[in-house]
Amino acid sequence: MIVDIINKKRLGQELSYHELDVFFNGYLDGKVKDYQMSSLLMAICIQGMTDEEIFSLTKIFIDSGDTLDLSFLSGVTVDKHSTGGIGDKTTLIITPIVASLGVPVLKMSGRGLGYTGGTIDKLESIPGFRIDLSDEEVMHQVEDIGIVITGQTASLAPMDKKIYALRDVTGTVSSIPLIASSIMSKKIAAGADKILIDIKVGNGALLQTREDAEKLSDLMIKIGKFYQKEVRTIISDMNVPLGFCIGNSLEVVEAIKVLQGQEQDNNLTRLCLDLASEMICMSKGVSKQEAIDMVLDTIHSGRAYQKFLELVRAQNGKIDLLSTSKKVKTIKAFRSGVIESISAIDLGKLSVALGAGRMTMEDTIDYGVGLELLKQVGDSVQKGDDLLKIYYKKMPNLPDFEQIFLIK
Ligand code: URA
Repeated sequence: MIVDIINKKRLGQELSYHELDVFFNGYLDGKVKDYQMSSLLMAICIQGMTDEEIFSLTKIFIDSGDTLDLSFLSGVTVDKHSTGGIGDKTTLIITPIVASLGVPVLKMSGRGLGYTGGTIDKLESIPGFRIDLSDEEVMHQVEDIGIVITGQTASLAPMDKKIYALRDVTGTVSSIPLIASSIMSKKIAAGADKILIDIKVGNGALLQTREDAEKLSDLMIKIGKFYQKEVRTIISDMNVPLGFCIGNSLEVVEAIKVLQGQEQDNNLTRLCLDLASEMICMSKGVSKQEAIDMVLDTIHSGRAYQKFLELVRAQNGKIDLLSTSKKVKTIKAFRSGVIESISAIDLGKLSVALGAGRMTMEDTIDYGVGLELLKQVGDSVQKGDDLLKIYYKKMPNLPDFEQIFLIK
């Protein structure tokens, strides 16, 4: 009985593979109702799951759809995933970097929801960019130019998609076992040999503490072992936005500057160097220092940026037509001092209010709006200096910037 399974989890007892299978596949078939699934998900949030249960759930998610076979690609494939952050445009930067070094990239990305952006929305801000490639086009492109970034096909872990939509509206997103099985099922189904996960921690992330990020990391590595796939994780800060820009076309412009080697040392360039070099280590078995040297060389030689342009052209994007809103308001520093912090979550909320993100999957977004930080944490400012540019179409109510920029 469905209700017996809910009660068992409510009491903190372990569910068998069979019980989870009946419940979750019953939900996919419509026999288990939303209210029953919500109840089980909440019991899981409160009671947690054993490793066995997590492996079972991951398998049930994977088996609900197709698994890609990438064995036709030469070289060790490494997939990368971020648990989501504000201003996180790392995929746009590191995938052409590693592809330009001969690591094949077949990346399936998602749209943004809530305060965190999605790679697909950012790419769609490039006029004409196609994210709806057929399976044949995907396979053809990755063989041809070594890189493709496309929307996640409906056939990969479809059960996760349905469950995630329910978690989003039932306060059950932040369960670590559910996050682990949700992400890992999609990554394993996507077929790469190895997986690198960027786990964000901070006020603009799903997880708020380093302890929780480490728990998620351990679980993902264990799930990888279960599937004989090497999984590495990097835990990175999401209290402060990543880089200078938040908003779709603004982030593409910033990604291009990093790929052209125009950006100085900052939290975005450091994270990209770390992630890209880790992917190179995993794929080519070289040392971290060798991988860092290779990444810096491919940027400075222009090859990484050329690979980005190749990707955009192959998917019909017209990079010359990329545009940002012409209406711009500048926020000035309200006192002199040193910037101690810049709240990621508050700038994420402002970017959604501007129209750069969506609160429900049905919302439409405005690609040209967003925010550009003109200063970073650690910078000294004088009262009246420019702090932030707001690119807008229709100006929303503005927050109290003294709460967002901590200047001491
Ligand atoms: N991203 C996912 O794909 N799944 C989760 O559960 C959380 C973040």
